[in-house]
Amino acid sequence: MRNYETFEYDVLVVGAGGAGLRAAIGAIEAGCKVGVVSKSLLGKAHTVMAEGGAACALANVDPEDGWKVHFRDTMRGGKFLNNWRTVEIFAKEAPERILELERYGAVFDRTPQGLISQRAFGGHKYRRLAHVGDRTGLELIRTLQDKAVALGFESHMETTLTRLLTSGDRIVGAIGYRRSDGGLCLFKAKAVVLASGGWGRMYKFTSNSWESTGDGVMMAFEAGAELRDMEMVQFHPTGMIWPPGMRGILVTEGVRGEGGILKNGNGERFMFSHVPDFYRAETAETPEEALRWVDDKKNNRRPPELLPRDVVARAIYKEVKEGRGSEHGGVYLDVSHKGADYIKKKLPSMYDQFLHLGDVDITRQPMEVYPTIHYAMGGVTSEPETCATTLQGLFAAGEVACGLHGANRLGGNSLTDLLVFGKRAGDAAGAFAKSSSFYEPDTHQIEEEIETLFAPFGRKDGENPFTLHAELQETMQTGAMIARTEESLTTTLNEIKQVQERAKNISVSGDEKFNPSWHAARDVLFMLTSSEILVRSALERKESRGGHWRTDYPNEDPFWAKHNVCAKKEGENIKLYATPVPEPPAEYQEILKD
Ligand code: FUM
Repeated sequence: MRNYETFEYDVLVVGAGGAGLRAAIGAIEAGCKVGVVSKSLLGKAHTVMAEGGAACALANVDPEDGWKVHFRDTMRGGKFLNNWRTVEIFAKEAPERILELERYGAVFDRTPQGLISQRAFGGHKYRRLAHVGDRTGLELIRTLQDKAVALGFESHMETTLTRLLTSGDRIVGAIGYRRSDGGLCLFKAKAVVLASGGWGRMYKFTSNSWESTGDGVMMAFEAGAELRDMEMVQFHPTGMIWPPGMRGILVTEGVRGEGGILKNGNGERFMFSHVPDFYRAETAETPEEALRWVDDKKNNRRPPELLPRDVVARAIYKEVKEGRGSEHGGVYLDVSHKGADYIKKKLPSMYDQFLHLGDVDITRQPMEVYPTIHYAMGGVTSEPETCATTLQGLFAAGEVACGLHGANRLGGNSLTDLLVFGKRAGDAAGAFAKSSSFYEPDTHQIEEEIETLFAPFGRKDGENPFTLHAELQETMQTGAMIARTEESLTTTLNEIKQVQERAKNISVSGDEKFNPSWHAARDVLFMLTSSEILVRSALERKESRGGHWRTDYPNEDPFWAKHNVCAKKEGENIKLYATPVPEPPAEYQEILKD
């Protein structure tokens, strides 16, 4: 058996994005010794890719706003697959968490009256997104990091965890390796907060950075936790499409929030022809009506570009599929009519991004965009009040957790999710740790994981992990993207199975010091399992809802309106089952009726 270094924490936080850092703050303030493990460097997490803002009903710009409207919008956006209690907590606590972030030092854009400014985003009835230009996620991370560092925690950067460790049925720690030298690290903990983000890297075109390989969600699954809604992943309508090397990079919804319009290759503002009946009453019918909304934001119906993401992504997909795409196979997004000064002030990152990566000046020219995988609505089932998972001692917050977003997340709800449930998870894990002790992890599990990690070094001329990853991305992009059918999903599932077989023979060369192919060898195993669960869940849900569009079952189905697809490990198998969506109490049914 190889040597490993051992670290002990009351609370171990997995991930240093917004949820992880906010959880760390909560646990430190509860008096716990806290360790934070991050696959990348501190300050670099997918949180920065929520650019346009954090949704909260502060009512600074539209005084009619309030938590009930935010609750309603989030439930409607999620097609009622959300856990209503999670949404209630979220909508009620969002404003306080944003004001707290400001007290920690975040510098938000201001209204002329000096209040936190709020911008429009898809599916939100009122202007609700507190923002810092188009760099809101970055400011959130910077602020939380300053606060957490000032309070004091131990940071393990560039460390990849690969297995949660149990004693009986409780989580007692985790094991993984340092990327720099391959050194093994064993973390013993009284409580673990999983805040490891999403898993978009299994698709070919993604806004997600290299870390998003789903290690966290798969570690929880392997340890026996229940997962939910894994078929529900979000294709953000606007990713870059050109130049090819930049394909998938996010183009913030803030562009449309600031008045950007979508046009197809024929120059038509096509979103007017893609308004679902469900949203018709609240959506502008003509460019003139939409413009009135952009100009005075009052008493008029919203531009169709600000429909929820699932609707806009499907519309773009259809336009391109039916031959009305832009030069490079996407559609045009134009904000140039807002003028150079306004654009550089409100969308500085987009201006730089297109100028430097694409040689496009967005103050004068339209952008070319196409949907890109951006977010996972599903994940580890977590309890609304405390973020407790189905495993004792394991808490989950942020993108890795499931419950808030239902079948489709509204833009801007993720940053606030990180704050609201990061705090709740950290507080609850801290309280749990205070009344708990350390348990010895099962040594058999440690040995097994070390064997899995190092096996690729012992094989000669086996499969290349990067090749397998590329093949997985190809089949997921082809068969499990926005538009899915029984046939496309079945083909993809079969191809995943074949790649899984070949993955048993992955080999890598070199040594353990910063060896990317060795890292990829473990990552790809996680991505293969999460892809299998995603595709199999998508086959189960024989209907269309939110991010899950089955063109062979184009309508919503009353059974699936009331059920989540869950997944759990049973022996070596994946067990899938449906559970009823929690029914909101009568007074909330009233709010939702509106
Ligand atoms: O478009 C964006 O700025 C992304 C925001 C989000 O995913 O919440």
